[in-house]
Amino acid sequence: MSAIKARGISKSFGNRCVLKAIDLEVEEGDLFAIIGPSGAGKTTLLRILCSLQPPDSGTVTILGKQMSYREAEDLPLRRRMSFISQKPIAFRETVRENVAYPLRVRGIENGNEMVYHALQHVGLLDLADNLGVTLSGGELQRMAFARATVYNPEVLILDEFTAHLDPYNIKMLEDAVVSYRKEKGATVLTVTHNLFQAKRIASTTAFMLDGVIVEQNETARIFNSPADERTGSFVRGEMIF
Ligand SMILES: Nc1ncnc2c1ncn2[C@@H]1O[C@H](COP(=O)(O)OP(=O)(O)OP(=O)(O)O)[C@@H](O)[C@H]1O
Ligand SMILES: [Mg+2]
Repeated sequence: MSAIKARGISKSFGNRCVLKAIDLEVEEGDLFAIIGPSGAGKTTLLRILCSLQPPDSGTVTILGKQMSYREAEDLPLRRRMSFISQKPIAFRETVRENVAYPLRVRGIENGNEMVYHALQHVGLLDLADNLGVTLSGGELQRMAFARATVYNPEVLILDEFTAHLDPYNIKMLEDAVVSYRKEKGATVLTVTHNLFQAKRIASTTAFMLDGVIVEQNETARIFNSPADERTGSFVRGEMIF
């Protein structure tokens, strides 16, 4: 069964068409990467999949349920998924409280152990009592990952979750994603500029350009024998933007 199914998703801002009838299907338990140049529409697509903004046309079905794009109606489904933004923020409270936030809004009491495991998973136990706003960029991304996974979402959607980080933090977060997927059987959809990252962690990769998905396949096929010439020139680093 597919965990994420998008059909005919289109979106324009003013007279600029950013997504052009996108079809996308992510199998349950897959680790699926979308690669593509800046401005291709990747973040816009992710925000639509998470019901953070509605498409102009098309449908999104998550875990067998169709998004209505009405906040109250979509809330139960949104609570089974998680989105890490390209620009995560910290609330003005401790790291521990930041990570506990999703449990508070879900009315989950006695979540201390869940918070402990989420912090441990990303190596942040030592900083648990510091203020979230004092974290470094890499620590902030790790905290955002802990906060996004503390309630065990079945679908995890990540937007450039290691952008601007050093190799230590990149490795730690990639390991956290891979082991989260394995331990929980979760479905992960990630957008990345980092082609090596897609190669390292994704089973399936899609190449997106100018609001369309040019091609999707097993990751090795996309990188070693792409069917479309544009995919080939992008993965060989020849496409100039
Ligand atoms: N709310 C908005 N209003 C107007 N234009 C928007 C809005 N959101 C996105 N866009 C435009 O849509 C296009 C696609 O943006 P999007 O953020 O989806 O690209 P992206 O593929 O995620 O790029 P990047 O790799 O740089 O993050 C961009 O040109 C952007 O300026
Ligand atoms: Mg983006």
